[in-house]
Amino acid sequence: MIDEVVVLDYGGQYSQLIARRIRDCGVFSELLPHDVGLEEVRRRNPRGIVLSGGPASVYAPGAPRLDRGLLELGVPVLGICYGMQLLVHELGGRVEQAEVGEFGRSDLEVSTPGVLLAGMPREQTCWMSHRDTVFEPPPGFRALASSSASPVAAVESAERGIYGIQFHPEVVHTPYGQEILTRFLTEVCHCELTWSPASIAEEQVARVAEQVGDARVICGLSGGVDSSVAALLVHRAVGDRLTCVFVDHGLMRKDEGEQVIRAFRDTFKVPLVAVDAEERFLARLRGVTEPEAKRKAIGEEFIGVFEEQARALARDGEGARFLVQGTLYSDVIESGGRPGAATIKSHHNVGGLPEQLPFELVEPLRALFKDEVRAVGTELGLPERLVWRQPFPGPGLAIRIVGGEATRERLDVLREADHILQEEIRRAGLYRELWQSFCVLPDVRTVGVQGDERTYGHVVVIRAVTSDDAMTADWARLPYELLETIASRMMGELREVNRVALDITSKPPGTIEWE
Ligand code: XMP
Repeated sequence: MIDEVVVLDYGGQYSQLIARRIRDCGVFSELLPHDVGLEEVRRRNPRGIVLSGGPASVYAPGAPRLDRGLLELGVPVLGICYGMQLLVHELGGRVEQAEVGEFGRSDLEVSTPGVLLAGMPREQTCWMSHRDTVFEPPPGFRALASSSASPVAAVESAERGIYGIQFHPEVVHTPYGQEILTRFLTEVCHCELTWSPASIAEEQVARVAEQVGDARVICGLSGGVDSSVAALLVHRAVGDRLTCVFVDHGLMRKDEGEQVIRAFRDTFKVPLVAVDAEERFLARLRGVTEPEAKRKAIGEEFIGVFEEQARALARDGEGARFLVQGTLYSDVIESGGRPGAATIKSHHNVGGLPEQLPFELVEPLRALFKDEVRAVGTELGLPERLVWRQPFPGPGLAIRIVGGEATRERLDVLREADHILQEEIRRAGLYRELWQSFCVLPDVRTVGVQGDERTYGHVVVIRAVTSDDAMTADWARLPYELLETIASRMMGELREVNRVALDITSKPPGTIEWE
């Protein structure tokens, strides 16, 4: 049994990050809704419980409450920000709104280190984000630290196993944050620090083997990191009873299909059916210009091809009972909450095969964050290029030919332009720093002059963004020299292109993709 620490989510901006940081320390951690119920928490037999931050005021009507039963489980509890205020309020301390809130970097002064802050500098920087403030600890608790706006910025009762900190140890702006979490995990919860990418891989392989038994499994491979890692894990578990299906819709980036085929078929010896469906997709996309119509057409065609392959395998006596999906932990958390969110775009991806397909799901990445998936991929020997691939939408280059039809000719121009961009961004060492970098080809032509001749050519738009989760994004400040190199290569090497533009839109108000 691996040790687990449960994080209860009171709605804070950084709740997911707390679970991630705990995992970084080497302890498995999951984020659960704050009102998940005592029974569910007890069932997991956690070594510790963390109460996250959140936007409410503890004394406001309807504010999320603390289930007092949590304190009777005999498991140490750490409250962070709202979590601490909740503990203090419930246990008889004083929480009130302060005259000034405290947002951003703050100087923390440790007066009594206690168990939690032992061995750390008396003065340190931390990250705060709160308006309500603890003025007095509950009876029986010790105040450990303060800042200029927080008379009580950390409390503990080691006897009762209850701890609280007003600041956020999970963000990088709290330099001793990771150390504080580690102290909580080791000195207070007595956890063993054994959670790692290697242990995840091993555990998941065993789990999948048990789930699948001697049945057959099918997996839609897109070449993205999630489906690649999921496929490799499952292949380790069931060997050649896994068949991967790679649908090349002709909307991929340059050489991408070959890279996937080479890695899986040649290096890892995974049974792979590669379907060249370019003609079919292009025929389906003829005359389609409206973004949602494009997405829908591609999604439907994709499912059609995949189903055909699944049926063909079944005819050959290799029918699958299970389907691999690269669902990540962030997808699980997100689909658990946030009802009523508007659909901005209908996303299509390989993980989005419809539920009515007659398969049971195998989801070996369900407990993992993206960076952990990458670590597992590296552990499994996946090539660096695949492990660190930037996200690429299921509908591929088609939704980057904006306002027009995705024809073969346009796709080729876009593919070549994109190839130049990627090559130069990698050469500049910026590839991993960017969430995404790609080109867009609007359906317009502009006038130019090249070699004394009038040209009437394509415009390529460069889009590069930084982001943590694609929910928001900022346009990347690429160096001018790099932009110049990229632009002159595009216009020099691609006859059809006579203009290059740069997209400087953040998200919101723009989305990352143009369609
Ligand atoms: P937007 O354009 O909505 O995109 O800001 C957010 C992120 O999602 C990617 N994206 C997709 N991914 N299937 C996918 O698997 C899709 O249909 C799809 N559309 C957009 C986009 O590249 C960005 O990372």
